[in-house]
Amino acid sequence: MIYLDNHATTRCDPRVVEAMVPWLSEHYGNPHSSHALGADAQSAMENAIAKMAQFLNVPVDSLVMTSGATESNNLAIRGMCTHPRQKRRHIVTVTTEHPAVLDVFAELQQHGFRVTYVPVLPTGLSNAGVVDMQRLDEAIDDDTALVSVMWANNEIGAIAPMKEIARMCHDRGALLHSDATQAVGRIPVDVINTDIDLLSATAHKLYGPKGTGLLVVGNSHRRVRLNPQIVGGGQQRGIRSGTMNPAGIIGIATAMQLCSDSMLEHNERIARLRDQIWSRLTAAIDGLHLNGPGLEQGERLSGNLNFALPAIEGQAWMSAVPEIAFSSGSACSAAHSAPSHVLTALGLDESMARRSTRFGVGRFNHSDEIETVCEMLIEGHARLLALAK
Ligand SMILES: Cc1ncc(COP(=O)(O)O)c(C=O)c1O
Repeated sequence: MIYLDNHATTRCDPRVVEAMVPWLSEHYGNPHSSHALGADAQSAMENAIAKMAQFLNVPVDSLVMTSGATESNNLAIRGMCTHPRQKRRHIVTVTTEHPAVLDVFAELQQHGFRVTYVPVLPTGLSNAGVVDMQRLDEAIDDDTALVSVMWANNEIGAIAPMKEIARMCHDRGALLHSDATQAVGRIPVDVINTDIDLLSATAHKLYGPKGTGLLVVGNSHRRVRLNPQIVGGGQQRGIRSGTMNPAGIIGIATAMQLCSDSMLEHNERIARLRDQIWSRLTAAIDGLHLNGPGLEQGERLSGNLNFALPAIEGQAWMSAVPEIAFSSGSACSAAHSAPSHVLTALGLDESMARRSTRFGVGRFNHSDEIETVCEMLIEGHARLLALAK
């Protein structure tokens, strides 16, 4: 199988696995125990957290470790909005957010919050899929508690201008949360300089293990109060109870370090592979439509490609080429039969959204396999067209 679905998840890098294993086997102490085995795990975990704080440029005590970005988004948004000292009752997000944000907004709306969903720029523009900044500016008012904007989109790779968005929010006294799940490890993320108040990330998108994530809470400019969503033993300053996961935390820290060591050259390399797919396919198949920002812009993740076929559904194409792992939507919306909400938010009709596919090139892809992939995709597409005639 050739894996080209690196927005759904990434293979855990063998160097990450190697760093994690001792913390599952020999050093198995509970990091909250006071004996030597516990202290051992606690100090390794603290070192890992300090490394991540440096990588993200945040104070060490602003990191809360979680089970992944879904939990981080829930804790950030529901935790902030339901804090007893939170008096504002308006919240703002973007139509192309992940369900782990949108569903929390929908729930808060049912509990009386006023919600504004800001659109993205439509398909056809070179920066299609980037949040409409004018509409966002108009949406934030003096009653806005929180604005949530994803840093990079998981389907079309659109990158948001986070620094400008942070300024808009803070000018009106609102806080900013960013689901940075697809950004951390892929593009530089500097929380203090960008001035984001809450930031979610997960290890399995950056060649780390599944089941480990983090939430940045506050950034030294502003205090953020959260109502805990998981209560119990009072770990992590009471913000997120539960025994911490030393192996997972050492895994995510190692994974971040590896991403940071080679980010620039890695991005150049995967952009070349991504462009290779696009130019081979456009040369062989007439009428492909690129979804999201232009490939040459700095507004799209380097490994991301998303486009609509002229006549064949993405799901059928996937079935015709089972040796290649790619996707006909995001892993989450692919589980439902509805067309992708991200693509319809761009202005694609239902048929075009169903004819769309997403590729995510990653660390373990090479140019020789990309050539094979293109041949198989072109051949599979021709077979389906012949069948349709
Ligand atoms: C943008 C975005 N947010 C949140 C998530 C959920 O992350 P996790 O699987 O760690 O809960 C994902 C992964 O699918 C994602 O791509």
